[in-house]
Amino acid sequence: MTSPSLPPFRRLAILSALVDEQRGLIEHLQQRHKVEHAGRHFWLGTLGGTPVVLTVSRIGKVSAAITATLLIERFGADAIVFTGVAGGLGDGVKVGDVVVAQDFLQHDLDVSPLFPRYEVPAYGRSRFECHPTLSQALAEAVKAALAQGLSPDFGQAQLHRGLIASGDRFVCGAEESAHLQTRLRAAGHEALAVEMEGAAVAQVCADHGLPFAAMRTISDRADDTAHLDFAKFVQAVASRYAERIVWQLLGVPQPGLA
Ligand code: ADE
Repeated sequence: MTSPSLPPFRRLAILSALVDEQRGLIEHLQQRHKVEHAGRHFWLGTLGGTPVVLTVSRIGKVSAAITATLLIERFGADAIVFTGVAGGLGDGVKVGDVVVAQDFLQHDLDVSPLFPRYEVPAYGRSRFECHPTLSQALAEAVKAALAQGLSPDFGQAQLHRGLIASGDRFVCGAEESAHLQTRLRAAGHEALAVEMEGAAVAQVCADHGLPFAAMRTISDRADDTAHLDFAKFVQAVASRYAERIVWQLLGVPQPGLA
């Protein structure tokens, strides 16, 4: 690991939103083996000496929560790192930038008036924090990857750190995303990005007392052209980002890279 303060993991889970993000990593797995379970493919082995399990989350909070639970309960993961893409919500969070989450909330959870808006019943809170040390190591890996000029097509990409909002909806409209931001702000939440899984995985990790960190590359601005920008971006760059950043996090030179 790049950060010497990180403990060695029994098995680090790399959970990705997209199959493309994992292709290059799976190719380089040592002692590689694949297990099919609950309709999902789990890849086990080591990367640069670190025992890992890789799989894709599937889309949406329920699917992601099931996948995260399986990673922990069935495959012995003792930490989860998430890679994926997100829509930019915060001012200055542009396509090609990367957000490392400080915490997550579910923007579509509303049990009011029984509980305050966004609060998760039984937890007494709406926000689930990521692990500070693991997140710091991930942010350093992102910085190092960005310094290598990962995304020439998008100008100087920036790293942001803060709140990410998750919900079971692809946010695809300027009016909708402005409305979402206004509602969150009214409750005191300033979200940088919107996606569909992170808060669920953060809650599963909180339940198990395990470290969680997440990075999201901004594929669109959650506006009227989000679906077009998303498709283009995912194909063109998302996989390159995720792979480079994971190698950085593991403290191993990326195979095949000069
Ligand atoms: N993931 C990437 N872009 C997104 C968007 N606009 N809404 C929800 N999830 C996303």
